[in-house]
Amino acid sequence: MKFIWQKLKRPFFVLAPMEDVTDSVFRRIVGKYAPPDVYITEFTNTDALTSLGEKSALQRLLFTEKERPIIAQIWGIHPTKFYEAAQRIAAMGFDGIDINMGCPQREIIKDGACSALIANHELAKHIIDATKKGAPELPLSVKTRIGMQSIETEKWIGFLLEQQLDALIIHARTAKEMSDVPAHWNEVKKAVELRDAKGQQAVVIGNGDVIDREDGKKKARETGADGIMIGRGVFHNLFALGDNSSVWPTLAPEQKISILKEHVRLFDKTWGKHKKFAVLKKFFKIYVNGFPNASAMRMKFMETTTHEEAIVLANSILSK
Ligand SMILES: Cc1cc2nc3c(=O)[nH]c(=O)nc-3n(C[C@H](O)[C@H](O)[C@H](O)COP(=O)(O)O)c2cc1C
Repeated sequence: MKFIWQKLKRPFFVLAPMEDVTDSVFRRIVGKYAPPDVYITEFTNTDALTSLGEKSALQRLLFTEKERPIIAQIWGIHPTKFYEAAQRIAAMGFDGIDINMGCPQREIIKDGACSALIANHELAKHIIDATKKGAPELPLSVKTRIGMQSIETEKWIGFLLEQQLDALIIHARTAKEMSDVPAHWNEVKKAVELRDAKGQQAVVIGNGDVIDREDGKKKARETGADGIMIGRGVFHNLFALGDNSSVWPTLAPEQKISILKEHVRLFDKTWGKHKKFAVLKKFFKIYVNGFPNASAMRMKFMETTTHEEAIVLANSILSK
């Protein structure tokens, strides 16, 4: 069945795209315990995606039927590549496409991609139009920020709202602010008002500093946002997106370690030697946290160098 953003029950919850974090494996773990309403891939470069056999692009776009609806996030600067990438994404069976116009990393924006597009409406429009043309059947969203150097919600979000998008994901900070200041949720409210004033249909999704579902519901009530996206919240509460978000802090250490073990096994099974074990280590602090002795135990997990070592350590804790 075709995925339609507008048909989701309000407020809906989206797991944020996070490079080297929200791969297919982590999305499945989150999905099993506290499923979001929508998943998004890590951002994938359109040049890499369209050059055949580009391993990292294909890894970023790997998904299973358990992670649906699944949106492919892409970034780049050449409209022709967006056109081609959109065709491929449609052929791969994705439920939608999201264009990244928010990443503030210097090495990415120096050539005019991602958040640099906030200052280049003409190219942004060409990119949106080319993507639509490449996959006219797929819903299209843009994930962006509220300005480049300063807040320019009316100008930039107003412009995006006129591009007939299906969804607009607003990380409520400027590119310059990185993640250094609290998100400006009043700008999400402004975006909703702008959307309504313009009579546009795009759903507005607010993002930035949401800690869990309850917090997200509150922010949706206050701003009128249709949906809420949660990213780093899952580092502190694996169940942040679910109805059960208050349960995570109450779990026994053994329950958290069991999920860690499941994560390690699935990571090994999915990626094998294709992803370094070191990538997996950043997840340990999610599970080995919030109980007495967690920090000493975490150090032991950080010293492991293979999947097997991590499993043996987990088993030794579970058998005590
Ligand atoms: C480690 C990490 C990787 C990220 N990678 C992406 C990405 O690939 N695409 C994207 O649009 N945003 C990316 N982001 C930004 C998040 O999606 C989100 O907008 C930001 O973290 C603010 O939301 P939060 O406060 O809920 O984490 C990343 C953030 C983090 C912390």
